[in-house]
Formats: sequence, structure tokens, C-alpha cells
Amino acid sequence: MELKISILFALIIAAILGYSTLDDGNAITFLENSGFKNPQSPPSAFDHDYHDLDLDIECEKCHHVYENGVLVKDKSSHEKRCIECHPLNATDEYKVPLLQAFHSGCQDCHIKEEKGPLMCGECHKR
Ligand code: HEC
Ligand code: HEC
Ligand code: HEC
Ligand code: HEC
Repeated sequence: MELKISILFALIIAAILGYSTLDDGNAITFLENSGFKNPQSPPSAFDHDYHDLDLDIECEKCHHVYENGVLVKDKSSHEKRCIECHPLNATDEYKVPLLQAFHSGCQDCHIKEEKGPLMCGECHKR
């Protein structure tokens, strides 16, 4: 009986963990920089849970969708990573390269809200 309960408990935990890492990015606390060739800075701090849940920012604000160059309202691309659209160097199809996508994507809001880090070392913590 006790064994059954602990197995059930383990399954529930696995389901919760699986859900939070696969479906909503909530387990993220640092960003992945391996898409950059020879990364120069430590990966940026980014508490996904804090931005998504505590600050209550909608998914599509960061995980946006464009059609024919026009932002589509209320549609999210959260099943894709930024690098799947934003290339390292701009192309005719994607004019915003990956570094600019991250830097503008993060800092424009921090500037607008007058909150959140703007100094290199506040995000790229050593
Ligand atoms: C609001 C947070 C934030 C601030 C402030 C910030 N960055 Fe970044 N930066 C990022 C994110 C996010 C990425 C992409 C993922 C990663 O590298 O962690 C990135 C990527 C980079 C990269 C490409 C990856 C690499 O390591 O080579 C460089 C270089 C970089 N930043 C340098 C800087 C410098 C220099 C400053 C200050 C002038 C700065 N960043 C300020 C968030 C920030
Ligand atoms: C403040 C910006 C922001 C908000 C709001 C946000 N996310 Fe994210 N999310 C990110 C960033 C940045 C990443 C890392 C993307 C990358 O590494 O390319 C990420 C990663 C993810 C991932 C992992 C993607 C992968 O393939 O590894 C999922 C899933 C995800 N988010 C879902 C969501 C959902 C669902 C919501 C709304 C409930 C949401 N996010 C809200 C910025 C945000
Ligand atoms: C499904 C494809 C797709 C994904 C995924 C995507 N973007 Fe974009 N993004 C675009 C397109 C298209 C544009 C319009 C400009 C262009 O052609 O590059 C754009 C524009 C931008 C811009 C400039 C306009 C603005 O909103 O300030 C930023 C910054 C940006 N993206 C950041 C991000 C970040 C950060 C991520 C990951 C969390 C991300 N994007 C994921 C397609 C995508
Ligand atoms: C739509 C708005 C918005 C976007 C987009 C956004 N942030 Fe923030 N972020 C905030 C606000 C607001 C705060 C400050 C909250 C406070 O101080 O009360 C913050 C705080 C932070 C902090 C400090 C958190 C702490 O623990 O003190 C870091 C680090 C950070 N953001 C990184 C990022 C990175 C990296 C990105 C891009 C991937 C990003 N943010 C995108 C709004 C945003």
C-alpha cells in the first residue's frame, strides 16, 4: 500500500515537473546561449516563472507571431525557441538577428517599465 502511494506520488511529481519544463518554460532561470558561436558572456539570468506568473506578462508578448510582417494579436509561438526564427545574421525573411531579438526583446520592456536590469552584469551575472 505504502509503495503504491509513493509510486503514485512520484508520478504526480513527474507530471508536474514535465509539465512545467515542457509546456510553459517555468523551470527556466538562465537562458541558453549555445546558439551563439563562441559565447562571450555568461548566460543571461531570466526567471521565466517570475516574468510569466508574478509579473503576469502574456505569453505572446515575448513568444510572438508575425504574418506577412504584421504582428498577430493573441497568438503565441511558445512551442518554438527564438533561434528557430531569428537567425544569427539578418536575412531577407528575418530582419532582426538573434542578439538584437534578445537584447531588444528584454531591454525595451525594462526601459518602458522603468524596472528590470539594463546593465550588462545584471543579466550576464558572473
Ligand atoms: C536584460 C538583460 C540583458 C542585458 C542588460 C544585456 N544582455 Fe546581453 N544578452 C541577454 C540575453 C537574454 C542574451 C541571449 C542569451 C544569452 O546569451 O544568455 C544575450 C546575449 C548576449 C551576447 C551574445 C552571446 C555571447 O555571450 O556572446 C553578448 C555578446 C551580450 N549579450 C553582451 C552584452 C553586453 C556587452 C551588455 C551590456 C552592454 C549586455 N549584453 C546587456 C540579455 C541581456
Ligand atoms: C517575458 C518574456 C516571456 C514571457 C511572458 C513568456 N515567456 Fe516563455 N520563454 C521566454 C524566453 C526568452 C524563453 C527562452 C527561449 C529560447 O531559449 O529561445 C522562453 C521559453 C519558453 C519555453 C521553452 C521553449 C523551448 O523550446 O525550449 C516554453 C514552452 C515557454 N517559454 C512557454 C511560455 C508560455 C506558455 C508562456 C505564457 C504562459 C510564456 N512562455 C511566457 C520568454 C517569455
Ligand atoms: C515564429 C517565428 C518567431 C519566433 C519564434 C520569435 N520571433 Fe521575434 N520576430 C519574428 C518576426 C517575423 C519579426 C519581425 C521582424 C523580422 O522580420 O525579423 C520579429 C521581431 C522581433 C523583434 C523586433 C520587434 C519587437 O517586437 O520589438 C524582437 C525584439 C523579437 N522579435 C524578439 C524575439 C524573442 C526574444 C523571441 C523568443 C522569445 C522571438 N522573437 C521569437 C518572428 C519570430
Ligand atoms: C514585458 C516586459 C518584460 C520583458 C519582455 C522582460 N522583462 Fe525582465 N523584468 C520586467 C520587469 C517589470 C522587471 C522588474 C520587476 C521588479 O523589479 O519589480 C524585470 C526584472 C528582470 C530581472 C531581475 C529580476 C530579479 O530577480 O531581480 C532580470 C534578470 C530580467 N528581468 C531579465 C529579463 C530577460 C533576460 C528578458 C528577455 C529574455 C526579460 N527580462 C524580458 C519586465 C520584462
